Amino acid sequence: MKPQQAKVYSPIEMVFISHILGKNKSEIQLYQPVLTKAQQKKLQKYNTLCAQNFPVDYIIGKVDILGNTFYVDKSVLIPRPETEELIQYVKNNTKNPRLLIDIGTGSGLIGISLSDVFSQVVITDISQKALNIAKKNIITNNKQNIIFFKSDLLKNKSLQNVLRQDVNWTLVANLPYVPINEKTQAKQNQVEYEPEIALYSGKDGLECFQRLVNQIKDIQNPPLQCFFELDPSHIYTAQKLLTTLGYTAKIIKDQNNLNRFLIGDLIVV
Ligand SMILES: C[S@@+](CC[C@H](N)C(=O)[O-])C[C@H]1O[C@@H](n2cnc3c(N)ncnc32)[C@H](O)[C@@H]1O
Repeated sequence: MKPQQAKVYSPIEMVFISHILGKNKSEIQLYQPVLTKAQQKKLQKYNTLCAQNFPVDYIIGKVDILGNTFYVDKSVLIPRPETEELIQYVKNNTKNPRLLIDIGTGSGLIGISLSDVFSQVVITDISQKALNIAKKNIITNNKQNIIFFKSDLLKNKSLQNVLRQDVNWTLVANLPYVPINEKTQAKQNQVEYEPEIALYSGKDGLECFQRLVNQIKDIQNPPLQCFFELDPSHIYTAQKLLTTLGYTAKIIKDQNNLNRFLIGDLIVV
């Protein structure tokens, strides 16, 4: 009888097998485990979903970022590498590591990742489904200093009460920024399975940011520092808007040399 040849898996199948078996890729390569019938069935199901362009992170249901594990499903945006850059930038450049408000938190990625830097973190989202995922991520990553509110940007009254108590707060936001008419290109843009509420923001993509600026204008104690992730095509308009609020508005490039981040320091006179 011929010896059985080890099955050759594609790199993406290796990711799935590693998830199914709860083993890392080098263990699998070393021990070449044989999959049970049930495990093979699961792998087949994952391959089918993958062939339909269903994102690998949704299939596996989690992403490891900066030392934390984030559960993700179709109710939250899949974390992007640029947002990791934003988190690192906030870590290195915050001037007031007291109270951080993460607006439009999605999976909780930004607030949770920065909860070791700030004494208190508040995360908010307009989507209850997203908040449920973020809550789960707070618990599984064992973060004690995070509270959350369902809120349309800064509108929630309880959130405003928190802000009234601390004049020394920092705002971070990665809000939706895709123009609504680009919905028809969702498949092409590989975002067809992600929640529309996390992607689209009015006619020009700037509606959410514009509304947030208007809300900041109306509150008694605006944030001392703001950090935004934006679409590079919006950066100069956003910079102007932030400047009118009395902030320095510095543009920071991402790793691809695109004008991705806007950092505002409140000019105190
Ligand atoms: C681009 S996603 C970013 C998610 C997460 N912050 C990240 O960086 O991975 C935008 C998030 O903003 C939320 N959102 C959309 N409109 C909002 C609003 N008016 N107020 C608060 N959150 C909003 C969406 O539900 C979504 O979770």
